[in-house]
Amino acid sequence: MSLIEIRDLRVAFDGIQVLHGVDLDVAKGESVGLVGESGCGKSVTWLAALGLLPGKARVMGSVTIDGQELCGATRSTLEGIRGGRIAMIFQDPSSSLNPVVRVGRQITEALRIHRELEGDAARNEAIRLMDMVGIPDARGRFDAYPHEFSGGQCQRLMIAMALAGEPELLIADEPTTALDATIQAQILDLLGTIRAETGMAMVFISHDLGAVSQVCERICVMYAGRIVEEGSIGILFDNPRHPYTRGLFDAIPQLDGGRERLIPIHGTVPDPKNLPQGCAFSPRCPRATGFCHDKLPVLKLQPDGRQLSCFHPVSGSGQRLQVPDCRESVAA
Ligand SMILES: Nc1ncnc2c1ncn2[C@@H]1O[C@H](COP(=O)(O)OP(=O)(O)OP(=O)(O)O)[C@@H](O)[C@H]1O
Ligand SMILES: [Mg+2]
Repeated sequence: MSLIEIRDLRVAFDGIQVLHGVDLDVAKGESVGLVGESGCGKSVTWLAALGLLPGKARVMGSVTIDGQELCGATRSTLEGIRGGRIAMIFQDPSSSLNPVVRVGRQITEALRIHRELEGDAARNEAIRLMDMVGIPDARGRFDAYPHEFSGGQCQRLMIAMALAGEPELLIADEPTTALDATIQAQILDLLGTIRAETGMAMVFISHDLGAVSQVCERICVMYAGRIVEEGSIGILFDNPRHPYTRGLFDAIPQLDGGRERLIPIHGTVPDPKNLPQGCAFSPRCPRATGFCHDKLPVLKLQPDGRQLSCFHPVSGSGQRLQVPDCRESVAA
């Protein structure tokens, strides 16, 4: 049973469409990764879903939580849901923590709004949350200001604030990109532990396919404002079929592979003002034919359960294919 259902979500800024009909479900307790290069629409999808885009954005489609429509919902409905049933953490902790308010106060405020806790009950729960996310001496540091904490600790405090409303879904938008590898691993561990303890669902937005495989059960690959491939981690990691997904995997440095295995995807994500006709990936795609440059593929369910939008997917043999040199087809 889906907790969130996004249907045909479309977003335009100043008449320029950046999201072209996204369909995405998140089941209760499930963890879904959202990947794709910068500018593909990962953040906009969830900002639109939660009514957080600026007024100039035109949002169409439907987003429901347990059947309740969020697109076009009143401000008070959305404010009740955000931080309550759905919480978000962002890449940059400084955008979420108020620098002039003591951290304990910020967490107790969230507890007051979303769980009506006051006084000692709120204070004790805030300390428990700070403790749970691994802030050393949580009781002693309750009255400290954000600048007295390290970057990784601020990230943990943001997670504590997000958890204050006991959310059913946590949207984590690149929560570890600004952190070094050890702290990143600790935060990923922490998110896994919290999910195991609370049954919370999660959407994990990241460039890092390794991190996604560590914390997610399912993965959605976005390109130029559309989902191009979607499936379980097992299926997509064993056998990525969209040439773009394949490109993302091939661009990951392999520990065992030496330098020659690192194949970047040539070219860049198209400007939303100037989307190519046909498949948006076709100008960069080593497998594209004339047909791909003309016609737009739609996302279709495949026999193995994945969804895929491609006219010439990578073979399903499970073998690593020789990827032709993209530069030739881009130049052509
Ligand atoms: N407030 C805005 N006004 C105008 N255009 C915007 C705005 N926010 C996002 N966009 C555009 O929408 C598109 C999708 O942006 P989005 O932030 O969703 O990318 P992303 O996939 O999250 O990338 P990144 O990995 O860099 O965070 C981009 O072309 C971006 O320029
Ligand atoms: Mg983003």
